[in-house]
Amino acid sequence: MVSTSQPIRWGILGTGFIAQKFADGLRSVPEAQLWAVGSRTLASAQKFAHQFNVPKVYGSYSDLVNDPTIDVVYVATPHIYHKENCISSLKARKAVLCEKPFTVNAREAKEVITLAREQKLFCMEAMWMRFMPLIQKVKQIVDRGDIGEIRLFTAEFGYPTQFDPNNRFFKLELGGGALLDRGVYPLSLAFFLFGPPNQISGQACKGNSGVDEQSAMLLTYESSMLAILSSTLNTYGSNSAIITGTRGKIVIHEPFYEPERISLIKFPDSPVVSTAKYCVNSSRLKQKLITLMKRNLLVKSLVSKLRYPTTTFSHANESNGLSYQAVEVVRCLKNGERESPIMPLDHTLKIMETMDVLRQQWNLKYPQDID
Ligand SMILES: NC(=O)c1ccc[n+]([C@@H]2O[C@H](COP(=O)([O-])OP(=O)(O)OC[C@H]3O[C@@H](n4cnc5c(N)ncnc54)[C@H](OP(=O)(O)O)[C@@H]3O)[C@@H](O)[C@H]2O)c1
Repeated sequence: MVSTSQPIRWGILGTGFIAQKFADGLRSVPEAQLWAVGSRTLASAQKFAHQFNVPKVYGSYSDLVNDPTIDVVYVATPHIYHKENCISSLKARKAVLCEKPFTVNAREAKEVITLAREQKLFCMEAMWMRFMPLIQKVKQIVDRGDIGEIRLFTAEFGYPTQFDPNNRFFKLELGGGALLDRGVYPLSLAFFLFGPPNQISGQACKGNSGVDEQSAMLLTYESSMLAILSSTLNTYGSNSAIITGTRGKIVIHEPFYEPERISLIKFPDSPVVSTAKYCVNSSRLKQKLITLMKRNLLVKSLVSKLRYPTTTFSHANESNGLSYQAVEVVRCLKNGERESPIMPLDHTLKIMETMDVLRQQWNLKYPQDID
């Protein structure tokens, strides 16, 4: 039972890239204490503990999860270990925050979710993007109907990643590929803002190691909305997202998964009056002036701003942005909530199912897909 008067005691499982970022982010979370770290090797756990001032150190994952003084375990291992690490944490009666993708496939996700619900323990996918203040703001704007009925959603996530057959990104056995690592973000944002789609289709380009190095996904919604999403390991994406409605659009500026700036652009109520109309009765000189002004970029942008009023919202994120999800976990644990309404387990499962459907279309199988 989590104490409401004590800080929440976190145990971190794994000492790699994201574990270190999370440990850093946790420093700014009120009522949270980075209490223990567990690694496959004691030396790595000790190094991590020294760097982040962690009081308890374990040279095995099972020793960490069995520490009775830990409230919640943050799972920061490669995808293929998430299921096993979540299950051992839940069996040791620990709440769980598990890195994305939650598991490798929906079958594994169902196993973890069923156990968490049976054990009546908190469990959440660490989809930190959903907790970012400006993503919350976008959700409010969309839900209020400020940009009318949504027709299009586009989002791209890509950075060039050096090919290395031993890197988890390119290793089929480690659940490699762009979809599980990056595509999961635009998919999760689509589910967060618009719910589950009616139809899912996609195309992928596989690399030499057999993983999807890039892919495009198309979601169709009952409301006739389309989501066009992509992810790549091969090059830079726009890394922005645009939601277009009948009365306006929202641009989530790069990087859309941890934005510090969004723009709300309102479309005119009545059809746009074309400038050509003004020219009809103008003198030649006036027409020339108008043509010249229309070519001027500054004038162009001013006219566009007058026609389509734009409001920009900025927010400087706290620490490295990973802290917002931890604030939510602490809130849920203190209130005795077993799931976060912002990242519920049913969404996690549906997103895993969606990625399974896409992978089936691409004939992309992981060893974990075989029962
Ligand atoms: N939220 C985000 O922004 C974000 C960003 C990057 C990654 N992630 C997710 O976080 C997870 C870990 O990614 P990462 O980039 O942190 O990976 P990483 O740097 O390779 O670290 C993974 C850690 O997992 C442990 N591990 C256990 N078995 C392993 C094995 N067979 N091979 C390698 N490591 C093993 C290791 O810790 P010990 O040696 O201490 O046991 C290792 O340091 C992935 O699921 C990824 O999708 C999330």
